[in-house]
Order: sequence, then structure tokens, then C-alpha cells
Amino acid sequence: VKEELLRPVRGMSDVPPSRARRLRQVEDAAIAAMRRFGYREIRTPILEKTALFARPLGEHSDLVEKEMFTFNSNNDDDGDDGKGGEKVSLRPEATVSVARALLAQGIGRGGVARMFYAGAMFRRERPQRGRYRQFHQFGAEVVGSGDAEADAELITMCRDLWRDLQIGDALDLQINNLGEAAERARHREKLADYFRRYADDLDADSRRRIDKNPLRILDSKEPRTKEIAANAPRLADELGADSRRFVDEVRAKLAAAGIAAKENPALVRGLDYYNLTVFEWTRKNDARAQNAVCGGGRYDGLTAQIGGGDKKIPACGFAAGIERVAELIAEEHGGDEMDAPDVYLVVGAEGGDKDEKIARHAAVVADALRAAGLDVFRNLDGGNISRQLHRASIKRVKIAIIVGEDEAAQNAATIKFMGEKAPPDSRQIRAPLADLAAAARKMI
Ligand code: HAM
Repeated sequence: VKEELLRPVRGMSDVPPSRARRLRQVEDAAIAAMRRFGYREIRTPILEKTALFARPLGEHSDLVEKEMFTFNSNNDDDGDDGKGGEKVSLRPEATVSVARALLAQGIGRGGVARMFYAGAMFRRERPQRGRYRQFHQFGAEVVGSGDAEADAELITMCRDLWRDLQIGDALDLQINNLGEAAERARHREKLADYFRRYADDLDADSRRRIDKNPLRILDSKEPRTKEIAANAPRLADELGADSRRFVDEVRAKLAAAGIAAKENPALVRGLDYYNLTVFEWTRKNDARAQNAVCGGGRYDGLTAQIGGGDKKIPACGFAAGIERVAELIAEEHGGDEMDAPDVYLVVGAEGGDKDEKIARHAAVVADALRAAGLDVFRNLDGGNISRQLHRASIKRVKIAIIVGEDEAAQNAATIKFMGEKAPPDSRQIRAPLADLAAAARKMI
């Protein structure tokens, strides 16, 4: 029973320092890239009213029907046994929340809003490699612009970030045009009509979907159904001139920026709120189902769906899975590295590190190093100097700084190079406190 308690909840994980460091690097690089384009951070709650998500994400989507962590917001303090209150859910994504927050604050007042966020999202999916129940995204949203320049800017920003992270060559950009709601509705009807004519030849699952969700039939793996689906009416044929012109303009801007985008008519995205442009960055040469690193698109109808009135507020955005980006970096550039501090502070005396005078000097040394911007890990495990140096080498620090009786008396410290490549005469030097940080930096 006890061991069971020590394990995290299914689909969620404890992240050790080496891996956490990589996730942090991805997040920091993403934030830096987004800030370069003038995006500013917005934070929204992790819990939202369940009702907020149903329409924009799709009443019949897997996400809304079975993948949200939902519970009653009431605690029992008010004595009504948890009845009343309202249903709330852990956010499965952040676009809806950002739109809600901007509406609540009255968007438009300051013109176009460019927002970014980073944080935990929750989906009760079947866990597998690259798919978790708690995962982390960074994302960006442009709210209040219906200009194709906005779509192109978001994609350019991603391209820049992949370049910063040196994974640009490992990713493909796919793009599609979903048109407008009316165009999709017309396509759906034609699809249903078409499949109805072949109903007897379809597999049972697909037959059941003809009326409820004929688009899903296009994903069927049944050979005969696939054959039939191959000749089904295409959305592209239903798109009017305005829809086509818009996404063509996005494509032209991408081409001008030197960004290659593959046309993928099967790219539909899992969330209902999209129209016109949708895109995904996927891993090259990787047929795994979970190969999308980043996805997004335009969602001009979202604010109206969540009660922002009839006025359409055009918007677009994307989000990327931080774990998936980190996993790709690890595969491209080698595994996670030890997250070592710069300096291991060895506090030595014959009796270990308990000598008060030496301890006080160690504190002064640590202060000086930290003030100079170095990360200092002070020994707390006791032991003599050689034991402490052994621990320093396990931690893979580049240098150890030793403080003992002599050093305390001389207001100095000894720097010991712990790495492999140091000239023999500089392996170990003693430096007065005033020069210590500069000398340490030189060795790192
Ligand atoms: P999404 O495609 O659902 O879009 O998620 C974006 C990215 O989050 C995926 O490409 C993937 O990298 C990561 N991701 C999603 N689910 C999981 C999971 N269970 N485990 C690990 N990683 C996952 C959105 O969330 C939209 N809000 C994007 C957007 C923003 N559209 C417009 N604005």
C-alpha cells in the first residue's frame, strides 16, 4: 500500500533535475522568442467552469466527452454535502481561457492583443510515449486581428524558435484551409449523402457515424471504407473565393519568408473552434501518432461561442508541447545533462565541517561567489575533505572551492579544478577572497 502511495497519479510524472533543466531551457527559449515579437505574458486559472469549454472545443469531441478532469467546485464547508456549487475542470488547453480573460477585461480597448502563456494542461487521455495526462504547453494568441500577417507571424515565430533550439531540420510544417463554418457544414452534408450511398459497404462503426460525424469516417482504417473514403467529396471544393484567398495569402507570406509548408488536406486538428488556417509542426520521418510538436490556427468564431456577443473578434494562435519539444532535442542532440551547480563548497577541518570559525569563513566565501553570479552548493553532508571532494565529482561540478583552517586564517580559499582539461599547474590554486570569484570564473 505504501509503495502504491509513492507513485504519482497515472499519466503524471515526477521530473528529475536533469530532465527538468531541459524543460526549463525549452520554456525559456520559447518565452524569449515570443517576447522578441512583442508578445506579453498572460496567466489564467488552471481551473475553469466546465461549461466554458463545451461549445468551442466541440460538444461531441473526445476532449469534452471523456478527457476532462471535472469535479464539483463546492467544498463541504457550507454544510450542503457538496451539492450545489458548479462543475469545474482542469484546463485541457489555454486558448479558450485566454479569450475568456480578454473578453472579461474588454479586448479591443488597446487594439490587437498579443499574448503568450506557459503552463500545465490536463487531459485524461490514454498515457503513452509523448502523451501524458498532465503536460505543459507554451503558446501564443493574437486576438483582434483578421490579417493574414498575424497567421504568418505566428508561424515565423515558431520557425525562429526551432532554429534557436537547433531542431528546425527535424520538423515539417503542414498547413490546411478549413474554410468557414458554413462551408464546412455544406461539406459535411455532402459527405453524409455520399457515405449513405455506400452504407452497405462501410464497416459498422463508420455506418453509425454517417449522421453524427461523417468526417470521422475519413480516418477509418478499414480497407474497404478507406477505398470509399478516398473518393469522398473534398472540403477544398466547397471553399469560396474569400476563404481561398485568405489562406493563399498566408502561404504567400510564408514562402516569401523562406518557410516551406506542406499542403495537408487531412489536417483537421482535434478542437472545434478553428476556421481558415490550421497548421501543425510534426516530426520528420516519424510515423508515430504522437508526432505533433506544435499546432494552431485561426479561430474567429471563438469569442462569440463563449458569450462575447455577436461581434466576431478575429484571432489566431498556436501551442506547443514542452515535453515533446524537449524529447526531440534530446533525440537530436543527445540526452539530458546533469544539472550541476558551478561550485561545490568544501568546508574542511579535521573534525569535518562543524568548526564554527571555518563555517563563518565559508559563509563569507559563499556570499562573495554568489554575489558574483556563481551557483554555489555548500557541503552539508559532513565528512573530511576527500569525502567532500568525492561528492563534488559525483555532482560533476567544474570546480570545488575548499575552505579550511589555513584559508580562514588568510581570508582566502583554495580552488580545485574538477574537470578533465586543465593545465597541471592550474589544477589547484589559492586565491585571496578579493580575487576569488574572478579566479573561479576563469576556471569555469
Ligand atoms: P493541441 O494540438 O491540442 O492544440 O495541443 C498543442 C500541442 O500540445 C500538441 O501539438 C502537443 O505537442 C501538445 N500536447 C497535446 N496533448 C498532449 C498530451 N496529452 N501529452 C503531451 N503533449 C500534448 C491546443 O491545445 C490549442 N490550444 C492550440 C492553439 C492555440 N490553437 C490556437 N491557439
